[in-house]
Amino acid sequence: MNKEKLLIATTNQGKANEIKSFLARIPIQVFCLLDVEFNESFPETGKIFMDNARSKSLFYSKTWDGLTLAEDSGLMIDSLSGSPGILSARFSDPNATDERNIQKVLLLIKGIPQEKRTAKFICCMVLSKKGKIITEITEHVDGYITNKKKGTFGFGYDPIFYYPPLKKTFAELSSDKKNSVSHRGRALKKLQEFFENWGQSPIS
Ligand code: IMP
Repeated sequence: MNKEKLLIATTNQGKANEIKSFLARIPIQVFCLLDVEFNESFPETGKIFMDNARSKSLFYSKTWDGLTLAEDSGLMIDSLSGSPGILSARFSDPNATDERNIQKVLLLIKGIPQEKRTAKFICCMVLSKKGKIITEITEHVDGYITNKKKGTFGFGYDPIFYYPPLKKTFAELSSDKKNSVSHRGRALKKLQEFFENWGQSPIS
């Protein structure tokens, strides 16, 4: 029997590997945009994470003859009215780096007391097939923005995202530890469960 094929709609190898390792036990063949040829790329124009994940998933699923998984994620800081939000990747400027994004956040919330520096990482995932949505997942993780960077692991805003239950920033956690509590890790656990049950009630 041919295995179902799943396309992860990302060119980010790190993200693709993370998702592949979560789905390792599921009997599907997993690809990402780096493994296949697509002439068009999807422009992210949505106003919320779920809009972007949904449109991206549907965009690729119209051409890809299998399952398509799209993800959109980012950081929302309460005292900045939810910014950087969907602009997380390019918060400082169109050619942003993680460092410049972090420095911009630290400057904008300089002087705000610890208890008001609440923030969350959000992750939205959408699975679709042949232009139809099969399932949508939204997960988040709550924390605080620190006054300065701490830790060297991870990427993006990890060095300034403090996670109180572990008393560490995400950049101080091993990737396994981070995945066990992070927005993306939580969403991937739900996706794993979805596939485990999906085996009993196939979608055609
Ligand atoms: P995109 O989902 O690739 O468009 O980018 C989301 C952006 O949000 C990343 O470039 C990071 O700046 C930020 N982000 C999302 N997830 C994480 C995370 O787990 N740690 C740190 N930053 C993250």
